[in-house]
Amino acid sequence: MSESSYKEFRLSKNNPIRPIHGSIKLSELRALGLAYEDVLDFSTNINPLGSPESVFDGVEDIDLSKYPDPECLHLHEMISKHLDIDTSFILAGNGSTEIIHLFTRAYFESISENSRTCAIFGPTYGEYRGASELMGVSILNLTANLIPPFDWDWSEAYSLIAKHKPALVFLCNPNNPTGVYLDESHISNLASVVSENNGLLIVDEAYINFVEDRWDAIHLVRDKNIALLRSMTKDYSLTGIRLGYVLATPDIIEKISIYQPDWSVNSIAQQAGINVLQNKNYLQHARDVVKKNKAYLTSELTSLNFQVHVSQANFLLLRTGNAGSWRNRLLQKGIVVRDCTSFGLPDYIRIGIRPFSECRQLVNTMMELVEV
Ligand SMILES: Cc1ncc(COP(=O)(O)O)c(C=O)c1O
Repeated sequence: MSESSYKEFRLSKNNPIRPIHGSIKLSELRALGLAYEDVLDFSTNINPLGSPESVFDGVEDIDLSKYPDPECLHLHEMISKHLDIDTSFILAGNGSTEIIHLFTRAYFESISENSRTCAIFGPTYGEYRGASELMGVSILNLTANLIPPFDWDWSEAYSLIAKHKPALVFLCNPNNPTGVYLDESHISNLASVVSENNGLLIVDEAYINFVEDRWDAIHLVRDKNIALLRSMTKDYSLTGIRLGYVLATPDIIEKISIYQPDWSVNSIAQQAGINVLQNKNYLQHARDVVKKNKAYLTSELTSLNFQVHVSQANFLLLRTGNAGSWRNRLLQKGIVVRDCTSFGLPDYIRIGIRPFSECRQLVNTMMELVEV
């Protein structure tokens, strides 16, 4: 990668815009005469098993006239037991997205506007940029080579971090949408460089539970200046309820929790989170299904002459050419995929791994469209 391949700054202080995400908007479906029930959603990357049956256990006993526990104590205790980490290292949020916004507010509000800098390893989840722009932050875009294997230039990244000293550095592992999964030495070295330059590394592990050969980053939270984001939305298909958490040292947890509105994790979400964490084999079962369906999609789509980029996570990146047109054509057939143009990848669509029957339907529909 050449030295000039990182765009150092994109100053967007005066023009914050909402990031683009997958998922379905009712207004778009209505315009096409479709209803939610008519479409298969491959545009988000959610556990293909759906949520565990136990998810609503005890929910009918919740007194909705009472506020939820603002400290999420019972939920934090369950996460603590599940991960073997003290509750003082945990903060639950209304999806991990809320926690990204807590970080940008907590870390940038006290810094004068012209010194606010964050670094983002892209192409990646748009909310890091969205939340940073709302705080008037200058963004150091550390964008990977935009062709497979989508690798980053580490020495260049380190020297730019040393030069600009971002207070926050965002990296998604495995990365959305490229599925690139970094090993421990990469994360550990990066955390050291960020820390030496007085910053905090935030590693978003929204998709970690779908990786076959994972390594456990939790000890880095204790030993290094690093925060780990997790999404129970993805893990247990609680997408409509919204639930995520962060693992970080107690001083970091204290610093960001000041910015969280009380009761932002509602009573049903707290109970659902407690219920699903008791389900010991669920994530392994999900990994097995993801592995099988990912292999099926890879093989079928490759035989349709698409370039499939192998991802370590529960989605695939497919080179179709003209992603916008492919998304529209699939949507008209009742299938939603993620057009990756907003990631800077206009030739790619991202496909979340769904149950097998849905994957087969996707393959059949793509076959029809290829043959047209
Ligand atoms: C990398 C990444 N982090 C976080 C999220 C948001 O997850 P949550 O539903 O927990 O807010 C997403 C959603 O697409 C994502 O891709």
